[in-house]
Amino acid sequence: MARVLLVDDELTMVQMVTEMLRAEGHELFPFTNGNAALAALETTAPELVITDLYLEKGRAHGLDILQKARALNPPALVIMITAFGTIETAVEAMKKGAYDYLEKPFKLEELKLCVRRALSYNEAISENLFLRKQLKHRYQLSQIIGASAPMQAVFRMVERVADTDSTILILGESGTGKELVARALHFNSRRQFAPFIPINCSAMPENLLESELFGHRKGAFTGAVADKKGLFQEADGGTLFLDEVASMSPMLQSRLLRVLQEKEVRRVGDNLPISVNVRVLAATNEPLEKRIKEGSFREDLYYRLNVISIALPPLRERQDDVPLLVAHFLRDKLHSRTGHPFQITRQAMAVLCQHPWPGNVRELENALERACALSESAVLQLVDLPPALQSGASQVTASTEVDPRVGSAALAKPSNAESPGATLGPSSGRPASGTPVDSLKTFLRDQEQSYLGRALAQTGGDKEKAAALLGISLATLYRKMAGEEGARAGTASSA
Ligand SMILES: Nc1ncnc2c1ncn2[C@@H]1O[C@H](COP(=O)(O)OP(=O)(O)OP(=O)(O)O)[C@@H](O)[C@H]1O
Ligand SMILES: [Mg+2]
Repeated sequence: MARVLLVDDELTMVQMVTEMLRAEGHELFPFTNGNAALAALETTAPELVITDLYLEKGRAHGLDILQKARALNPPALVIMITAFGTIETAVEAMKKGAYDYLEKPFKLEELKLCVRRALSYNEAISENLFLRKQLKHRYQLSQIIGASAPMQAVFRMVERVADTDSTILILGESGTGKELVARALHFNSRRQFAPFIPINCSAMPENLLESELFGHRKGAFTGAVADKKGLFQEADGGTLFLDEVASMSPMLQSRLLRVLQEKEVRRVGDNLPISVNVRVLAATNEPLEKRIKEGSFREDLYYRLNVISIALPPLRERQDDVPLLVAHFLRDKLHSRTGHPFQITRQAMAVLCQHPWPGNVRELENALERACALSESAVLQLVDLPPALQSGASQVTASTEVDPRVGSAALAKPSNAESPGATLGPSSGRPASGTPVDSLKTFLRDQEQSYLGRALAQTGGDKEKAAALLGISLATLYRKMAGEEGARAGTASSA
């Protein structure tokens, strides 16, 4: 059933417990020496550790075993056995992450129940892990759309730093995808099975945010009717995402700095430190340097948070990504009443490509959602776009032809198909009969462009892999991408 590592310096006790748990069907690794047990933790990978708090003969202490057992991947549950009179230390052990403790002398039956409880708890957790794993694909890098050079740089960085424990500062204007990147970092790290907890630091007053983050003891302030775990504790083993970190008050900034330095939290109204293992990601849409100059943001905290930074480019600086994003939203996120993905006219797409998007990707997504809700057909038209955008339409072609970069209803996958490569369809550029026909050159260029975009989306933006996939050299890919840029600029303003 379960792998159990047992350590106690009393041989008879080890023998009795071993016999009893083997009879329960468990695989036992019994030790009477703390150092040997400590060394065996990694090789035996136990699900449950039962350890005496004081191990006189060995030099290792039960707390060392606890610490190492909790640091395993996946962490083992720990039951502490304590001698009478060491209850305070036992409580301390609970704070350090022990699952339960038993006071000596205890009946074997008590230990049996305690073990059963621990293992069923573990089972519930792993079911939870399974569900989380299912969720993971939603935050794969391939779900973050962008073939432009600055987004490529972002992908490379995310891949490089996701599976470290570094604190990361994510920079970018509102709506550029900071939270998306934070989730991708978490779900591509070894912490993926532990919680990802986002909190917006500007959304609540100082006191509330303090007790949210750090927790509080019952009676710490009026209204604190019960003990409350803080988010740092809730996120233990996982990732805490501090959104809009610039708006944290100076008091909270110093508390945060302390947690980052000491890896311990103190609840409001409590002096006892509680150790936590949390990776912190932070995001800001205003430059922190400015805040530091003004004296409203601590420089030392800034350096702590900014060990690595990832800057997300505003959409207006990567307008080539607009068609990819439009295709992504229309195919994967928004569904028409017909059950087929929406398409969009060249004219409407050209307008979307020209707009400066002060609200970035979120604004684009909202505009498309609105258009889909208003549209009377499965092809989005200029009139379906927000009025502010329509006024910019005078410079673009009045073509009502469907934009070939967004999949046609007949050829596209069912709208609920989850495929990272589904961003742009290769065969989707066939103009519907009855719509005006472009020159063959334009048509072929559009086809090629779609295909490049699709390959890039499929490889999460990795150009080398995309080139290999397409069977062309990297240089050719770059050349074609450059040509594509020139071509698209031409499409938007000419004809
Ligand atoms: N590159 C992208 N590819 C696909 N979807 C994106 C991309 N960037 C942003 N989005 C989408 O745009 C919306 C806004 O993204 P997100 O919430 O991550 O932005 P943000 O930078 O955290 O914004 P804010 O500063 O306003 O909190 C989300 O629906 C997200 O899924
Ligand atoms: Mg956000």
